[in-house]
Amino acid sequence: MQLFDVYSLFDVTPVKASMCTVWDDKGQQYLDLYGGHAVISVGHSHPHYVEVLSDQLSKIGFYSNSVQNPLQVTLAQRLGKISGYEDYSLFLDNSGAESNENALKLASFHTGKDRVVAFRKSFHGRTSGAVAVTDNPKIVSPFNAVHKVTFCDLNDAEAVETALMGGDVAAVIIEGIQGCGGINIPAEGFLAQLRALCDKWGACLVLDEVQSGYGRTGKFFAHQWDGVKPDIITMGKGIANGFPCGGILISPKFQAVKGMLGTTFGGNYLAMAGALAVLDIIESESLVDNAFSVGSYLIEELQKKVGHSFKCCPGAKIQEVRGRGLMTGIVMDSPVGPVRNALLHQEHVFTGVAGTQMIRILAPLCLTKEQADAFLATIE
Ligand SMILES: Cc1ncc(COP(=O)(O)O)c(C=O)c1O
Repeated sequence: MQLFDVYSLFDVTPVKASMCTVWDDKGQQYLDLYGGHAVISVGHSHPHYVEVLSDQLSKIGFYSNSVQNPLQVTLAQRLGKISGYEDYSLFLDNSGAESNENALKLASFHTGKDRVVAFRKSFHGRTSGAVAVTDNPKIVSPFNAVHKVTFCDLNDAEAVETALMGGDVAAVIIEGIQGCGGINIPAEGFLAQLRALCDKWGACLVLDEVQSGYGRTGKFFAHQWDGVKPDIITMGKGIANGFPCGGILISPKFQAVKGMLGTTFGGNYLAMAGALAVLDIIESESLVDNAFSVGSYLIEELQKKVGHSFKCCPGAKIQEVRGRGLMTGIVMDSPVGPVRNALLHQEHVFTGVAGTQMIRILAPLCLTKEQADAFLATIE
């Protein structure tokens, strides 16, 4: 049997990693500025994370959601405290897409409505409803396309209100900062406008913090820069530093009904051990502050390099740099593929991309200033 060939792969085979460093099977060392798609939050194989997960596995690895699991309760309490959402409830699942799926389902149950307003350049995942609210026709099959979705331009409150006036909108879903669409930060005040419009027209505001959340921007969730409170917040990626885990935070206005949401694996002991270890490390190492200070330093220094090139790819110039904390986009003046390849194979730095012209940086939250400087030194 062969693998179903859907991924474009680099010719690199990582075999070992520590914090922001990765080694391949030939012993080559890399600086990881991408964390495997924003998943590595507290650092690769952090000793505390390894210890807590290993210890949990030696005790009990899995049982179902039909028994008491105190680790879930502890996670809910600690997450409530660190995020500032102590009065919200937590539902645990396994991925970002599943979190968005559950959020939209919950909004629809709550309102009795079936349309969702989403934004151009959005990415919310690849499962049925999540991909339907994703603005990329190439990954939406006819089966997904039957969902009722209205796409509006980011920051166009008037278009959102026009959609809401139809009276059938269950939810407005928006990323804290658009990641795959190109590091687009909602304009100041736009999230507050959405909050007011959702209240006016009886729709739920869903904030997708799968990529922008968990401390990456210098607040626990990116939307907290705008002081709004969504009805549902979705999470994934860095929540358990690579052990598959997702979840949603649910406002007290929603009534839980037995059986309305569910999953086999969500909230399992290993995911919970990983998620609790992540919170231990985020707190003890002040990683939210670190993401902000090192991330802001990197953005400021990169902005000084506009008009310059990476030494490994002199043909392409930096055109613009935008982002918040460790969620950064470097817009190049030409296609980004050769730049990313050269950074990986010549400078040995892992980065990501967004669209055709942006290098995307989603480094582990423990990135040091020295590591940021090492990256800056790759620019002429
Ligand atoms: C904003 C956002 N939402 C949802 C998802 C989907 O997460 P997952 O791949 O874990 O299903 C992603 C993944 O990149 C994302 O960036």
